Amino acid sequence: MPIIYHETSREFHLFNGTTSYVIGELVNGHMGQIYYGKRLRDRESFAHLLETTSRPISSDPLTEHCFSMEFAKQEYPCFGTTDYREAAYEIQQTNGSHITDFVYESHKIYEGKPVLQDLPASYVEDAAEATTLEITMKDQLLNLKLILIYTIYEGRPVITRSVRFENEGQETVRLEKVMSLNVDFPDNKFDWIQFSGAWARERTPVVRSLEGSGVTAIESMRGHSSSQQNPFVILKRKNTTEFDGEAFGFSLVYSGNFLAMADVDTFNTTRFMMGINPRNFSWKLEPGCQFQAPEVIMVHTKDGLNALSGSYHSLLQNRVARGYWRNRPRPVLLNNWEATGMEFTEDSIVEIASKGAEVGVELFVLDDGWFGVRTEESGLGDWYVDKRKLPNGLKGLVDRVHDLGLRFGIWIEPEMVNPKSDLFEKHPEYALMTPDRRKSLGRNQMVLDFSNPAVVDCIYDQLMESFQGIELDYIKWDMNCSISECYSPYWGPDRQGEVYHRYILGVYRLYEKMIERFPNMLFESCASGGCRFDAGMLYYAPQAWCSDDTDAIERIHIQYGSSYGYPISSWGAHVSEVPNQQAGRITPLKTRANVAYFGAFGYEMDLNELSPEEIETVKEQVKFMKQYRELIQFGSFYRLSSPWESNIASWMVVSPDKKEALVGVYLLKTDVNCGFTQLKLQGLASELDYKVDGDLVFGGDELMEYGLIPLIAAAHPKQNEYPYSRPMDLCGDFDSKIFVLKAE
Ligand code: GLA
Repeated sequence: MPIIYHETSREFHLFNGTTSYVIGELVNGHMGQIYYGKRLRDRESFAHLLETTSRPISSDPLTEHCFSMEFAKQEYPCFGTTDYREAAYEIQQTNGSHITDFVYESHKIYEGKPVLQDLPASYVEDAAEATTLEITMKDQLLNLKLILIYTIYEGRPVITRSVRFENEGQETVRLEKVMSLNVDFPDNKFDWIQFSGAWARERTPVVRSLEGSGVTAIESMRGHSSSQQNPFVILKRKNTTEFDGEAFGFSLVYSGNFLAMADVDTFNTTRFMMGINPRNFSWKLEPGCQFQAPEVIMVHTKDGLNALSGSYHSLLQNRVARGYWRNRPRPVLLNNWEATGMEFTEDSIVEIASKGAEVGVELFVLDDGWFGVRTEESGLGDWYVDKRKLPNGLKGLVDRVHDLGLRFGIWIEPEMVNPKSDLFEKHPEYALMTPDRRKSLGRNQMVLDFSNPAVVDCIYDQLMESFQGIELDYIKWDMNCSISECYSPYWGPDRQGEVYHRYILGVYRLYEKMIERFPNMLFESCASGGCRFDAGMLYYAPQAWCSDDTDAIERIHIQYGSSYGYPISSWGAHVSEVPNQQAGRITPLKTRANVAYFGAFGYEMDLNELSPEEIETVKEQVKFMKQYRELIQFGSFYRLSSPWESNIASWMVVSPDKKEALVGVYLLKTDVNCGFTQLKLQGLASELDYKVDGDLVFGGDELMEYGLIPLIAAAHPKQNEYPYSRPMDLCGDFDSKIFVLKAE
């Protein structure tokens, strides 16, 4: 059993081949944190790892003068006793007090992993894959239980955590804050990495040192996880690199408002916590009721950031994503959004789709504009086909697209309503808005009250009606407006603090209903591109439109940043027209594809506008992707050279047997008579020889220890020719190359 309970010391040791996590009962009955890191040999007690000395001016709950909560490393710290740091939870009682005292009551250890009610979470397919520990803590006065839930995976450096409150008392309490986890680290020698941005520039790694003292935090209050901050944080040691050194990852499996925080005290310890944002959160927990907090997936490594990412890639891809498409190579698609916007007819769509069929695309996706009386101001909420655009209904169009040999996919934005819509006219109370106050609109739309089950059912019924008799293979589920002036007309005044969370539970419920109805559907989530790109979404939709920015150079950054916490198969990446609609930049068609290959590949343009030569190129690209998509989407991915640190960005994928690899190399701007670059590859077999691009042969050891670029340069000495390109013939701004490596 990889979880041992030592009865004498009252300590739990969770371990697998790589990781140890040790916790134990403190002298006051609370749970203390003893160790988290590389695997330790088990022993009866690790209590000597805890420093218990008391310090002047600290309050002492047990008058033993050697124990103060202020200095104790805790599992799930409470508010208001003798610990003045951030608390992991706060509970308001009917007398107004926030003081609680949860002490150990019991525990159970079992094989497997529990399902979290109504929430996404990682899972096991076979109980032997993981072991779970549930520790029940109890506040005697309230008869309230707090269950600390841990699962450790057998073959992965992964521990998941969450908590549940169960009210067995007589009193209704208010949960004012419920973090999913707390980790008290004994030191502060960390860099904190967050993934920040905005619309069209999502998930840029930002590094902040935790040395010193005070709070470092990120959050979302937008009702979705947001492009501003991603619910994924890495704490790494100062000297940790991509391939060496210690790092801890924390990924919240949740898509709504969140908070991630490190509270470093003046004694150089770090308290890290993550969970639902406590701002504007207040959950009324009545007698007999439970509250389940979302899960955090923790990963520990001593082998650098790429190893940490690899563990997340594998877990999210195989044990968070579900369903038919989980491990299947994704179809090459063509989406009409950048080609037509909302202005199209059945014929114009068929013309675009036909060209897609000619170049080998497999799936056509009809984006926004097909329903209601859809304009930029109207239509959302009315999920019936717009017969002005599609006089033969959806079926008429779908049949014609199917006749081209393509599958058909469709765009929806179920969580939204335009004030100009039949739905809003009939049911203004279905929108989230504060009574008697001005309502802010975003994109002329507002967010529906998905905390109200009737709203979710109404949208589901409308969609099912529209999709009746139509064979759909793919749904792009968009969400283009943050929640503002949040208020649910459905819930009473005493439950308004629950609305943000209930909203996201409503989103999950609609996903669940749709998945049940269409088990083989490929869902792609989207929120103005990547505004809701998180591990929670992957449970329902195995891929997400990771950014509205389709410019190849911008996308190198966005995909590179996303890869720290998310697998390649989890994002859509499309070739679009130039000048690029978001960036205005002109990049070669080759480079647009060389970037988009590393994702769920597709086109987002009217291919009819390309020249015959370009169409031939596109045909080659589609062929290439079909040949290598399994390797790309499900191989091991490595970041090799960061676009923020180098003029040459690079990444690669390697097949599980290490016999095949692809390396993408991108020149960000032209660079004349430049210095030497060594691009050292990763993940190959040292003992194998690899054919590079069909003719040159290099050892795996040489490629990893010396590098691809100097080897190619030496094999192809260049004369003084102009323009004076980099070795590898990369020449001119935004040039790029994909190297195919095959073991001999
Ligand atoms: C969002 C999406 C785009 C497109 C439009 C349609 O911005 O991110 O891909 O679907 O909405 O309105």
